[in-house]
Amino acid sequence: MKHHLSTVVTTLVMVAGLAFLGFLGWAWWHSRLPARYDVMDYGVVDLGGGPYPSRGDFSLVDLHGPHGKPDYRVTLTAEKASVRLSSGKTVDAWTFNGRAPGPEIRVRQGQLVQVTLVNKDISDGVSIHWHGVDVPNAEDGVAGVTQDAVQPGGRYVYRFRPRQVGTFWYHTHQDASEGVERGLYGTLVILPDRPPSKGEDITLPVHTFSGHPALGIHDGVERRPVPAGKPVRLRLINTDSSPARFRLSGMEPSVVAIDGAEIEPAPVPPGEAIEIGAGGRYDLAFRMPKGVAAVELVGSRAALVMSPDGEGEPAAVPSRPVFDPAARARATPVRLGSSFDRTFELKISKKVGFLDGRPGRHWALNGKLYPRTPMFEVDQSDLVRINLVNDTSSVHPMHLHGHHVLVLTRNGKALSPWSTDTLEMLPHERYSVAFRANNPGLWMLHCHNLDHAANGLTMHVMYAGVTTPYRAGKSARNDPE
Ligand code: C2O
Ligand code: CU
Repeated sequence: MKHHLSTVVTTLVMVAGLAFLGFLGWAWWHSRLPARYDVMDYGVVDLGGGPYPSRGDFSLVDLHGPHGKPDYRVTLTAEKASVRLSSGKTVDAWTFNGRAPGPEIRVRQGQLVQVTLVNKDISDGVSIHWHGVDVPNAEDGVAGVTQDAVQPGGRYVYRFRPRQVGTFWYHTHQDASEGVERGLYGTLVILPDRPPSKGEDITLPVHTFSGHPALGIHDGVERRPVPAGKPVRLRLINTDSSPARFRLSGMEPSVVAIDGAEIEPAPVPPGEAIEIGAGGRYDLAFRMPKGVAAVELVGSRAALVMSPDGEGEPAAVPSRPVFDPAARARATPVRLGSSFDRTFELKISKKVGFLDGRPGRHWALNGKLYPRTPMFEVDQSDLVRINLVNDTSSVHPMHLHGHHVLVLTRNGKALSPWSTDTLEMLPHERYSVAFRANNPGLWMLHCHNLDHAANGLTMHVMYAGVTTPYRAGKSARNDPE
């Protein structure tokens, strides 16, 4: 009898074990990405509590920029080159036109911009995404979603007419986690359509080249003569995948724009640092003092020193908290109309499972691993709200393509709202944001810590009825992240 019982138990244990192994095998198999797939086949459609939209199908390939004669044109050639930092150190980079950052694109609001991308020798392929510019969908530059990656010898023409004004950047969106880090990025400034101001206008993109943090190509102190009294605008851009912090001294700056959207000038209290999440931008404005004014990239030797004679050192400043865009003096609560057509919940967490066949604790969106992450479906002109929760102990700068969101609340509290395209979420923060669905297409929503995105922290917002002819996956040679 005893003998019999133990046989039964052993059998049951074996059956359970086999079932578990079978389940693991199935989960592993099921998680593997096909060699070629439509991102829309996997996303778990979420209607955000709104009605089922009733639009006929349309292909995003028809959502191109305007025709006509361009006002501004440039060719950007992706090529391997060695880049020399100001210290003399050289790095093997992937560049646009042999430089990293690539050439600055500086245009006026309303101009028709035409950029020809040529790939000389980047064997992984390349594309260009206009980070923060709400371009028509087919110009968005996402490999496997809005175009095929441009292979060596190939080219692609982008055309758009920016309505926005401000500080943006561009970068490859093919294998972005590797391509951007290696140097496939540049700055993009859109000036208002009025006579240029007489001030200094300085773009300072942060980038870490093979472990060497730099402002532009300056991995040490850059000195510039700036006459006292001159208005200065600094455009700080974070092209890295982690937050960048700037120490300011000798100036009385105001933040005048965040992510290419102007705000009521917000004076930065003396000693406060500026922190910009990955992908984000801040514009600072101030009047040049008689002495030395400096911006230092915290945790590096990179700095910009401005003074009337082009000499001097940054003054030591006490370490104070960072400037908080939510707590600006003038909090004008927005009236967005209280009725949202759709409200989505988006929770970032970590989950044990298989990501493309790899076991581990991976990023999850609403409890799902890529490619089965949520797909928010919206209808043209919907007023959309997203309640974001960062249920992890990491920072996630969440970036929505094609739209700017208005930040409404943080941790449940109303705040002085600002418009952003890359919202830095600190560990365990909760935000509520809103946007108007006014740019049809299929848009990525992902973390701009590009390594997180490459590890599954990515999903899409789709307009009802949109389809794409492009495919992601190895055999399609498209891998946006
Ligand atoms: Cu700046 Cu989807 O990226
Ligand atoms: Cu992240």
